[in-house]
Amino acid sequence: MARLRVGVLISGRGSNLQALIDAAATPAYPAEIALVISNRLEAQGLQRAAQAAVPHEVIPERDRAAFAAAADAALRRHRVELIALAGFMRLLDTGFVEAWQDRMVNIHPSLLPAFPGLHPQRQALLAGARFSGCTVHFVRPEMDTGPIIAQAVVPVHDDDDEERLAARILAAEHQIYPLAVRLYAEGRLRIDGNRVTVAGGMTPDVAALNPAA
Ligand code: GAR
Repeated sequence: MARLRVGVLISGRGSNLQALIDAAATPAYPAEIALVISNRLEAQGLQRAAQAAVPHEVIPERDRAAFAAAADAALRRHRVELIALAGFMRLLDTGFVEAWQDRMVNIHPSLLPAFPGLHPQRQALLAGARFSGCTVHFVRPEMDTGPIIAQAVVPVHDDDDEERLAARILAAEHQIYPLAVRLYAEGRLRIDGNRVTVAGGMTPDVAALNPAA
């Protein structure tokens, strides 16, 4: 069966892109990376795309509308069906977001709606949260909002700094992003207002406590 064609937008390191590339390397995975777009020439993720022989383009951001027009054209040229934002650190043009409504997802390193925006790991530490995590969601025009597809919870340790917490969350990101894209590709997601239901999805029957004793 034809695999879902995914376009990934990045700005930097591209470790989530790598997780998607690695997942797609398995023939049974129902999606493939059809195109990578970076708004920054220096993005390390571009090398990851090159290494995996995935088509990649740099579209510098002269202004928001020009970037959106060029990105949209490239995505359509490569017959992209789903956009995955993976560390894409710019706000997107509203018209672009609306044109790709329900066909664009994002990953964010917090349990949204907590800690949207910049430095979510720092925000979690400053707020004294005992858990944080990451969220994959459908993109809506307002930053870091939209129906939630998947979340992973990680504990905050007493001696965490921003870097240690970010690394723990990132490991979870690398699990849920390929999972969420797979669920989309399998046609198992239904959006109803702000809620997403997952056909055949199992919800764990646990509550985690921190501190545990
Ligand atoms: C990831 O932690 C991702 O969740 C975050 O940027 C990092 C990119 O890492 N995205 C956001 O904060 C978006 N609001 P990566 O380039 O190694 O995937």
